[in-house]
Amino acid sequence: MNIAIDGPAGAGKSTVAKILAKKLNYNYIDTGAMYRALTLKAIQEGVDFNNTNSLVSLLETTKIEIIHETVFLDGKDVTSEIRTPEVDQKVSITAAVPEIRKEMVNLQRRMAKNTNVIMDGRDIGTVVLPDANFKFFVTASEEERAKRRFKELTDKNYEVDYEYILKEISKRDKLDTKRKVSPLKQADDAIIINTNNKTIEEVVQEILSYIKGEAIM
Ligand code: CDP
Repeated sequence: MNIAIDGPAGAGKSTVAKILAKKLNYNYIDTGAMYRALTLKAIQEGVDFNNTNSLVSLLETTKIEIIHETVFLDGKDVTSEIRTPEVDQKVSITAAVPEIRKEMVNLQRRMAKNTNVIMDGRDIGTVVLPDANFKFFVTASEEERAKRRFKELTDKNYEVDYEYILKEISKRDKLDTKRKVSPLKQADDAIIINTNNKTIEEVVQEILSYIKGEAIM
């Protein structure tokens, strides 16, 4: 059983997916974390983000693993380090490189094999798991998503301002939507979940109402 959750930045996909995975006893795979981990390494190693070849060769010598929601980069736990504003700013550049996507998608498909998964990202329903049993496209207005991301970052004591976050979210969505290889796009057979003015629990219940009965609980 595979459940795909796609949507733009800050829509709450990962929060909702994690809760669903617990409720259903599925494995949760955060594909954004994989692009983020490689981006973090590129920042740490001072790789020029305009140089696609350097990013691709960096991946060749990089090991990314997700074990029980903990993200490991070359064996080191980077779960919180990959969620900085600096990584936010650069990740869509890494994620637009076709050779990098190809590798990541292979890895993601292997992770989904022979197990029940709930996977979130941008291209899960369209490219990674086109035969997923359920596909959801979770979204919200740009302002609502910026508000949520602003709160998330200020809660972690990052000094950011709302206007900056709004601009960054908008820029990242554009990069993700316009890229040539597997852009952010709603699958034709995806169910749209608009999360404006809804609590996390309401969104979880809405998704559960679609999958109830069919998912093994
Ligand atoms: O948490 P948030 O929605 O802000 O982002 P994320 O899911 O961690 O994804 C970070 C970035 O990785 C996205 O903006 C995309 O550029 C890229 N990504 C992707 O291209 N394909 C995926 N399947 C997942 C993420």
